[in-house]
Amino acid sequence: MTHTIAAPRTPVTRSKGTNWEKWGWIYMRASGVVLVVLIFGHLFVNLMVGKGVHAIDFAFVGGKWSDPFWQVWDGLMLWLALIHGANGMRTIVNDYAHNRTLRGILKIAILVAVIVLLVLGTLVVTTFDPCPAGSPADLLPSICKDL
Ligand code: HEM
Repeated sequence: MTHTIAAPRTPVTRSKGTNWEKWGWIYMRASGVVLVVLIFGHLFVNLMVGKGVHAIDFAFVGGKWSDPFWQVWDGLMLWLALIHGANGMRTIVNDYAHNRTLRGILKIAILVAVIVLLVLGTLVVTTFDPCPAGSPADLLPSICKDL
């Protein structure tokens, strides 16, 4: 069977309703631009500043997640990248899964994975306790000494 693909600039004839595919397309571009800043900022701060990768341990992570700036940074990175990745996977499923039922199952699996990871990730970033009671002092971030 042959399919004829319309010329790229052919206007789409749609009359009413929100064009979700268009907004999804715009989201991929807009989130991509913000993700460049968030991801490369994240890599630079974690791997290159100061002692770089050698400084990463529980205390490093605990220290970052007790700072609202990094909570917002990491929370934004989590939400933007997960929704971006999931929407991209949805496109790939639509392109390659030819069976309607299989397509539905795969897209529901993506949606469930995104919801679970967003809920768990947001909880971790916003409720992380860097100074759990009863932990050895040498494993805790320096901020715990002031508590
Ligand atoms: C540096 C940050 C990123 C930029 C600038 C970026 C940019 C883009 C753009 C513009 C598209 C649309 C491509 C198209 O429509 O042809 C896209 C697709 C996609 N992105 Fe990203 N992205 C980034 C990070 C990520 C991350 C972190 C993930 C995974 C969580 C991801 C997963 C995907 C997937 C699965 C697709 C769909 C690929 C396809 O349609 O074949 N991207 N990305």
